[in-house]
Amino acid sequence: MCVTKISRLVRVANLNHHGTLFAGETAKWVVEACFIAAAKENKKSDNVVCVNIQGLQFKKPVENGAIVDIESFVAYAGRTSITVVGRMYCKKYGKQNILETALTFVTLGEDGKPEPHNIKMERPADPDMAVYWDRFSKKHV
Ligand SMILES: CC(C)(COP(=O)(O)OP(=O)(O)OC[C@H]1O[C@@H](n2cnc3c(N)ncnc32)[C@H](O)[C@@H]1OP(=O)(O)O)[C@@H](O)C(=O)NCCC(=O)NCCS
Repeated sequence: MCVTKISRLVRVANLNHHGTLFAGETAKWVVEACFIAAAKENKKSDNVVCVNIQGLQFKKPVENGAIVDIESFVAYAGRTSITVVGRMYCKKYGKQNILETALTFVTLGEDGKPEPHNIKMERPADPDMAVYWDRFSKKHV
C-alpha cells in the first residue's frame, strides 16, 4: 500500500468566523489529497472523478499557524471505482487523527461512462486494512 502525505500551513485566509480552520477549506485539502492517491495508484489523473465523500467528520479545532498533515491511501479498488481513506493530523493532538473520511472515485472513458481503472489490488492480509476493504466493497445504496 502506498501512502500519500501532504502538509498544509493554516493561515488567516483559511479560518472561519471562530478563528479556527474552516470546514470548506479542510474538505478541499482532503479531497485533493485523496484524489492524488487515487490518481497515482491509477497512474493516470485525467479520467478520475469523485462520486462520493463519506462521513466527513471534524473532530478537533485547528488554530491559525498550525501545520496539518494529511495522509491518503487506496483502501479498495472495484472494477471502475477506487475508494481512498483520508486522515488528517495536527501536532497538538498527537497520533489521534482529527479527521477521517473515505472518498470514492470512478474512472471514466472518453464517452463519460465508467470504465475499468488500472489498479490491480486484492483484499489485504493485514486485518486493519481488510476491515476497510470489506466495508468499501459493499455496494452503495
Ligand atoms: C461517476 C458517474 C459517471 C458514475 O455513474 P453511475 O451511473 O453511478 O455508474 P455505475 O452505477 O456504473 O457505477 C460505477 C462504479 O461507481 C460505484 N459507485 C457509483 N456511485 C457510488 C456511490 N455513490 N458511492 C460509492 N460508489 C459508487 C459503483 O459501485 C461502481 O463501482 P465498480 O465499478 O467498482 O463496481 C456519475 O455518477 C457522475 O458522472 N457523477 C458526477 C461526477 C463528478 O462530476 N464529480 C465531481 C467532480 S470530480
